[in-house]
Amino acid sequence: MSYYTPEKVQCNGETFKVLLSKEQLAKRIEEIGRQIDEDYAGKRPILIGVLNGAFIFLADLMRHISIPCEVDFYKLSSYGDEKVSSGKVQQRKDVDADITGRHVIIVEDIIDSGLSANYIMNIVDNKKPASVEWVALLKKPEALKYHVDIKYVGFEIPTLFVLGYGLDYAQEGRNLGQIYVLDDEAKKKD
Ligand code: IMP
Ligand code: MG
Repeated sequence: MSYYTPEKVQCNGETFKVLLSKEQLAKRIEEIGRQIDEDYAGKRPILIGVLNGAFIFLADLMRHISIPCEVDFYKLSSYGDEKVSSGKVQQRKDVDADITGRHVIIVEDIIDSGLSANYIMNIVDNKKPASVEWVALLKKPEALKYHVDIKYVGFEIPTLFVLGYGLDYAQEGRNLGQIYVLDDEAKKKD
């Protein structure tokens, strides 16, 4: 299978370069899958993806999990079309499954300020699951404003705007097969 993985890419008029390659992503996601297999042996967890950003990561992660597991989705929106969060979270879709008494694993693309995660955590806790853990492909530790305990983190990255592999910039770039970051060199030449 060959993904769309250019060295550099234009998105909404700005140039982005590779931050995390498809090989780095694949290796780490496989490791997380194996860890979940071990940690949840004998259980039947339900993975809850946070749409839209997490859909690609979730699809790849789930294919590295070999214990019985289910999937469901939350849909949130907080970013609008900007590179900086609007600071407002809205729920667009609740989970369909009854998660009371279930082992829930919430799957996020990226934890930035932690606002979205904090919001979901409250909703999920109210439904009385047996356990809740979080997995995030990316985390920006220096941007964190709300406390969230993420058990499985793919990569810690600097506080920079990234796109690709499900993450968008004004809805573009989700189809990229790797994680990209703004290319400052390209900016200087303008
Ligand atoms: P938080 O609520 O500030 O933690 O932001 C979480 C959500 O904002 C993530 O689930 C992403 O969908 C989006 N987001 C945060 N940082 C980025 C980024 O660098 N690029 C694209 N989307 C981002
Ligand atoms: Mg998200």
